[in-house]
Amino acid sequence: MIFIDACFKKTTPYTPIWLMRQAGRYLDEYRQVRKSAKDFLSLCKNPQLASTVTLQPVDILGVDAAIVFSDILVVPMEMGMGLGFYEGEGPRFDFRIRCYDDMLKLKDNAYKRVSYMYETLKITRDKLDDSKALIGFCGSPWTLATYMIEGEGSKNYIYSKKMLYQEPKTLQFLLQMLANELKYYLEEQIKAGANALMIFDSWAGALEQSVYFEFSWNYMKDIASSIKSKYPHIPLILFPKGIGTYLEYIDGEFDVFGVDWGTSLAYAQKILGDRYVLQGNLEPARLYNIQSVKEAIKDILSTMDKQPFIFNLGHGILPDIPKENVIELVKMVHGATRR
Ligand code: CP3
Repeated sequence: MIFIDACFKKTTPYTPIWLMRQAGRYLDEYRQVRKSAKDFLSLCKNPQLASTVTLQPVDILGVDAAIVFSDILVVPMEMGMGLGFYEGEGPRFDFRIRCYDDMLKLKDNAYKRVSYMYETLKITRDKLDDSKALIGFCGSPWTLATYMIEGEGSKNYIYSKKMLYQEPKTLQFLLQMLANELKYYLEEQIKAGANALMIFDSWAGALEQSVYFEFSWNYMKDIASSIKSKYPHIPLILFPKGIGTYLEYIDGEFDVFGVDWGTSLAYAQKILGDRYVLQGNLEPARLYNIQSVKEAIKDILSTMDKQPFIFNLGHGILPDIPKENVIELVKMVHGATRR
């Protein structure tokens, strides 16, 4: 698998590419399947349909990896938090974690109840071409905790930060509880057929540097080393969004560092390139205009100068991007890097 080889710094016939949120609303094929499920979560819980939309980007775009169709929030949902996705609003939990006692209501062994995701992985791995990788994933403890504490998406993370600075031990208890679940969760994904794993720390950038390492990165590192000690052949990708100025302090046992679009790829390569393979970092909004995509591909590829690299966006694809531009992006990256 070209994608897996690139994760381990092996020479590949061309630079592999996949896109964060590659299955989604910008594809009419996705919207079609989505209509046949009651709502987004029903789609996640239906392995046949979830597998169909997982495979769509591979067939339509020709990307080198599929990412299992699910969501980072199914873990807290299965801890008993009650989750809904509301039109134009995004995710919302039925209750919020605001103190230690709230955490006592959470159910353990949530990972055992996400069986639909493992089933999606199994079905998908069976159908997927041998040359293509299947990526499993989870959210980071910190990013999941922000949703559980705020109860929904947030601009200022007020309640999460209040807990962090007023009752750090309470937050640490929650983060550790999540980290424990996530280790088992990722392990089950490997057993179900995932060839690589990615941890999304979407709200890393909400934290100042010293606090970031203590309350987020160290938990990701701990999950990563526990997985790597058992499954060294499974590449691990860590994606902390918005911490480009903290890169000097990044360390840990993982293979690929996901660079967000706000971080300079040249700087990331200088600081981290000897130790990790980079993945990234096209600004997703460039996909509105194919000319600006072309310019960025040129920049990114000349920065990486034939070093091991995985082409991706610097965050998730937007729902109203023209599909033709995405198809063109994949073609151009493959064409420009063929050796
Ligand atoms: O294609 C893929 O990348 C695989 C599936 C995937 C989804 N969400 C599907 C999805 C993955 C890997 C995620 C991760 C995820 N989910 C993250 C981390 C990555 C990031 O973007 O930072 C986060 C923060 C979430 C939480 C989440 N899920 C939000 C905030 C929303 C609402 C925003 C929106 O786009 O509507 C979702 C919903 C969601 N997750 C959709 C999809 C395809 C849209 C649902 C729909 O069809 O209406």
